[in-house]
Amino acid sequence: VLLLHRFRYLIQMFELCSVCLCVADAEVSCVFMESCILPCNFQGDSDGDAFIKWTLMKDIQTSIHSYFSNQDQLTQQDAHFRGRTSLFKEQISLGNASLQLKWVVFQDEGRYKCSSRGNNDSPETFHCQDVTRLVKDTEVSCIFTERCVLPCSYRGTDVVIHWYQVSAGDLRVHSFYYNKDQLADQNQHFRGRTSLFKDQISTGNASLQLTGVEVQDEGRYKCYTSTYSGAYESFINLKIHVQGNRDSFSDLKVNGM
Ligand SMILES: *[C@@H]1O[C@H](CO)[C@@H](O)[C@H](O)[C@H]1NC(C)=O
Ligand SMILES: *[C@@H]1O[C@H](CO)[C@@H](O)[C@H](O)[C@H]1NC(C)=O
Repeated sequence: VLLLHRFRYLIQMFELCSVCLCVADAEVSCVFMESCILPCNFQGDSDGDAFIKWTLMKDIQTSIHSYFSNQDQLTQQDAHFRGRTSLFKEQISLGNASLQLKWVVFQDEGRYKCSSRGNNDSPETFHCQDVTRLVKDTEVSCIFTERCVLPCSYRGTDVVIHWYQVSAGDLRVHSFYYNKDQLADQNQHFRGRTSLFKDQISTGNASLQLTGVEVQDEGRYKCYTSTYSGAYESFINLKIHVQGNRDSFSDLKVNGM
């Protein structure tokens, strides 16, 4: 009974984590829609009594993944993270509390806290470690006058897709909804040069094909997708090169040519 009491007390302490010893921030860069590892370590735990808790520190603390009593504890997990998180189970006993996050989206960006406690720690001590996560733009490089594909993916059905050229002031490049292209608001500069891969949209492919690539096409693009499971944005940085030349047009401009 005393042991059970002690255990409850620890769980309570763990939820509050009032005595966390914070380690300096680590920066992690992740790629949109890929997997990402948020690193975290604690003092080795040899007889399986580790506590691990991952939270996202935004306006409110969001519970992402907890682990104690030798198993994942996901009843309080935020719905946005459901099915996307895992720990490296076979390495927890070595003090590895790193979190693997699948299908990274821009909304995941933020400050993550890893609270953990191993066996060698004094009973009320929890370590915590902050990890700042940034999602990188996808870099795409295309050849002047040729064809170019800007990658984008999504999950779900009944998708709404909007492509914008952000760097030129959110120009509308291409839209797709109600299962067809919607080009009434398309910016003139892109007229007749854009298409999606129609036969692959239902499999989660929202990539944009651009033909007859021009110098003004250089810049940052946003792919917005929305389905019943949520709305997401991803960013692509497009550079245009002349065939056989490594420098893009923007590089040449910087070099005063
Ligand atoms: C934890 O284990 C994973 C999988 O082997 C590895 O990729 C990661 O670097 C480890 N992290 C730490 C902090 O040891
Ligand atoms: C979408 O389909 C096109 C054409 O098959 C392919 O080139 C592209 O890589 C696909 N993109 C993604 C993100 O799946």
